[in-house]
Amino acid sequence: MPREVVLFIGTSLDGFIAKEDDNLQWLEETEGEGDNGYTEMYQSIDTTIMGKRTYDYVMEHSETFPYPDKKCYVFTTSEKGSNEYVEFVNEDVVAFTKKLKEQEGSKIWMVGGASILDAFIKENLIDEYIITVTPHILGSGIPLFKEKNPQIDLILLNTKRYGQFVQLHYKVRQGK
Ligand SMILES: NC(=O)c1ccc[n+]([C@@H]2O[C@H](COP(=O)([O-])OP(=O)(O)OC[C@H]3O[C@@H](n4cnc5c(N)ncnc54)[C@H](OP(=O)(O)O)[C@@H]3O)[C@@H](O)[C@H]2O)c1
Repeated sequence: MPREVVLFIGTSLDGFIAKEDDNLQWLEETEGEGDNGYTEMYQSIDTTIMGKRTYDYVMEHSETFPYPDKKCYVFTTSEKGSNEYVEFVNEDVVAFTKKLKEQEGSKIWMVGGASILDAFIKENLIDEYIITVTPHILGSGIPLFKEKNPQIDLILLNTKRYGQFVQLHYKVRQGK
C-alpha cells in the first residue's frame, strides 16, 4: 500500500490560510481545545513537505524547529543542500512525492502553503484532508485553493469541534 499524504491545515471560513502579509494572529488567537487534534495527526506521520515561504515563516516564528523528529523536505528553487532539520529540494514536486509514496514509512504531512499545495491539488495527490476552520471571514489573504483545479470527490470521515474551531476530516473517494 502506498503511503498516504495528509493535508492538515487551518483556514478561515472564507478559505484563507494567511493574510497577505503572512499574518496568522487570527488563527493563533482562536480559542481551541487541547491541541486541536495536532498530536494525533503528528504521531501518524514520519515525513513533512512544505514550501519555502512556510519554512521561512516557521523558522522566524518558532524558538526551536517544531518537527525535529521527522524527515522534512522544503521545496525551493533558491536554496540547496540540507541543514540540521530539513532537506531543500528543487525537483518536480509531483514526481518526487509519487516516489516518496512508494517508499516504506508512515503518512506524509503536506504542511503547506498554498503555492506548493497547488501542485498537489492539480494532480490529486492528497489522500486525506484535515481542515480546521476558524470563526473568521478574513475577506482577503492567501487562498487555500487556487483556481482551475480538477474536481476531487471526497468522503466525510469525521467532524470535530475544538472550542471555536471546526475540524473537517475527509478522504479522497476511491477510483480517483
Ligand atoms: N493556516 C495554516 O495552517 C498554514 C499552513 C501553512 C502555511 N501557512 C502560511 O502560508 C504562507 C505561505 O504560503 P505560500 O503559498 O505563500 O508559500 P509556500 O507554498 O509555503 O512556499 C512557496 C515557495 O515554495 C517554493 N515552491 C513552491 N512550489 C514549488 C514547486 N512546485 N517546486 C519547487 N519549489 C516550489 C518556492 O520557493 P522559492 O521561491 O525559494 O523557489 C515558492 O516561492 C505563510 O504565511 C504561512 O505561514 C499557513
